[in-house]
Amino acid sequence: MTQTEYHTPVLLEETVTWLVTDPDGIYVDGTLGGGGHTQALLSRLSSKARVYGIDQDDDALQEVRERIGGDPRLELIKGNFGYMKTLLPPDVIGKVTGILLDLGVSSHQIDEPERGFSFQADGPLDMRMSDLRSQTAAQVVNDYEYEDLRNIFFEYGEERQSSRIARTIIENRPIATTSELKKVIQKVAKGPHAVKSVARIFQAIRIEVNRELEMLETALSQGLEILKEDGRYVIISYHSLEDRLVKMFFKTGNTEGTLHKDFYGNDIKPVEMLTPKIVTASEEEIQRNPRARSARMRVAAKKSEVA
Ligand SMILES: C[S@@+](CC[C@H](N)C(=O)[O-])C[C@H]1O[C@@H](n2cnc3c(N)ncnc32)[C@H](O)[C@@H]1O
Repeated sequence: MTQTEYHTPVLLEETVTWLVTDPDGIYVDGTLGGGGHTQALLSRLSSKARVYGIDQDDDALQEVRERIGGDPRLELIKGNFGYMKTLLPPDVIGKVTGILLDLGVSSHQIDEPERGFSFQADGPLDMRMSDLRSQTAAQVVNDYEYEDLRNIFFEYGEERQSSRIARTIIENRPIATTSELKKVIQKVAKGPHAVKSVARIFQAIRIEVNRELEMLETALSQGLEILKEDGRYVIISYHSLEDRLVKMFFKTGNTEGTLHKDFYGNDIKPVEMLTPKIVTASEEEIQRNPRARSARMRVAAKKSEVA
């Protein structure tokens, strides 16, 4: 049973098929969540394999510990995948067969109103995925200057009414709860698409609070040190900003998307994209699990030689 009330894993079969190239290998699940992917991964591996399951959220670690924590091949680690290189034991650096990142928040995190991720329930403006973070959504909403708020909404939420929403938030401070924030956004965003603006603003604040794009960038570049030759990245993103970073990194080996050249003018490409087209969920999966609709999976391998 990999589907739990905690979280239904997305693209499960596709993930495990792309990730497992060696049943005796060493794997890192950087986004353990409810452990659905990890459990399926373990079922394909031999008794010699090892899996390091990382999550920054105690709830995820607790859930997985209770369900599959007894598996001697699995080691659970609390921390941010952006610091993967320091979280993993030094002897596995450069030897990892595959890294999985299934980005974003779990259904469990969204379903708990007191975590403050959902605008469909009332809760405090928190949105931290981890108690390792100190800045809450309330601090972003109530303390940020106008320009910073506007830029976050524009860049991370891709919201067209960013300026007006930022100004209206400032006029209505202090804002303490998710319902209050939703009402303030709806003073600007009206009509049938208002809910989309609310979702975009909540997404933007969540990305800011958890430094999601920065952590993804660091994890991608640390992967080059952690993976062995031909070791794979399997990354599932849920919005275009994440997917753009992943795509650029897989094409060029850096998140600026600039191809560097060697002394002879040849392109240096430390990774090779194995999925020229993104992998998406089937209609059948989307029917079963609507969250799968926005999932975009990309896979790349670390190349042996830069050439
Ligand atoms: C989409 S869920 C993963 C679900 C999981 N694949 C499963 O099958 O249940 C994302 C999980 O990653 C965690 N997470 C997100 N960003 C993280 C980061 N930078 N470092 C560590 N964990 C992170 C979240 O706390 C959440 O539990």
